[in-house]
Amino acid sequence: MMLNQVEELASKASDGLGKVTDVNDLEAWRIRYLGRKGSLIQVLRSLATLPLEERRAVGARANEFKKSLEAAYTEKKSNLERSSALSLQRESLDITLPGRQVSLGRLHPTTQIVEEICAIFSSMGFQVVEGPEVERDYYNFEALNMPVDHPARDMFATLWVDLETEAGDKPVLLRTHTSPVQIRVMEKSRPPIRIIAPGRVYRYEATDAPHEWMFYQVEGLAVDKNITLADLKGTLFEFARRLFGEERKCRFRCDYFPFVEPGVEVAIDCMVCRGAGCRLCGNSGWIEILGAGMVHPEVLRRVDIDPEVYSGFAFGMGVERIPILRYGIEDIRLFYSNDLRFLRQF
Ligand code: DAH
Repeated sequence: MMLNQVEELASKASDGLGKVTDVNDLEAWRIRYLGRKGSLIQVLRSLATLPLEERRAVGARANEFKKSLEAAYTEKKSNLERSSALSLQRESLDITLPGRQVSLGRLHPTTQIVEEICAIFSSMGFQVVEGPEVERDYYNFEALNMPVDHPARDMFATLWVDLETEAGDKPVLLRTHTSPVQIRVMEKSRPPIRIIAPGRVYRYEATDAPHEWMFYQVEGLAVDKNITLADLKGTLFEFARRLFGEERKCRFRCDYFPFVEPGVEVAIDCMVCRGAGCRLCGNSGWIEILGAGMVHPEVLRRVDIDPEVYSGFAFGMGVERIPILRYGIEDIRLFYSNDLRFLRQF
């Protein structure tokens, strides 16, 4: 009777041990079967009440059973400990290994300069605006005092998108300069106006070291009462000194652009030879940086700003020219050919 109970307990215990998978389970198992209040002890205690014959048989079996359970327990324990040590080893972190390198992106040199230019003019009270790159003939030429067949259109080799549109009279092109943004701003707002407009422009041109068919310009425009050429000079002189250094000199000379009168070309003294003449400045001592002038009365009239009351100045500069001068870059095509060896230098 009692012997059956012992056998049953023995098989339950070893089944239970088979299901144990971690040390916590193993400890619970030990308490249940081998602990001071465990099932085995209960059996041994109850031996006292049995008749002698049965006591011997059951006692012997129970002891055998106890020994084998203890042995199985010890073996299971050391197995579990070994595998947990192994998995710890597997999961361990070698904090002496060098970290994985995170490669940081950087701003394109053109973007860097555009931001620099915008920061300078912003600090002088100019607002930064943008206009479309696909532009109408009207804004790119006509409103800028270059009607159809005006010879000055030849200054801008144009990439046409659509010569004859559905509407019939509004040819569409890739803007050849940022000057059309002047018109768009003046159509929508009244003086006082102070804006700069950075962006891409396009020219139908064969590319070589100094020419790209796409490049960046920054346009500037100020319209108010009593704006004079002296304001233009003061503003651009201050700009040149902040961008190219305090000791810079500026030269203003007459130039022609249909949308300004008078028009000027602004140059700074060469930062390499300081005016003596070198390769960078083509031996002239001066480097041209932008075109500018007083907004033509005809341009103001087009956008319903009375040139008898208001006047303004405008300027436009090529952006890539600045890093080209600053870093002695020999080929503008490097800017947009996506060669990381070039780009990573900035
Ligand atoms: N748009 C001219 C160009 O691309 C540059 C320019 C000259 C802009 C004189 C101006 C200006 O605003 O007043 O060559």
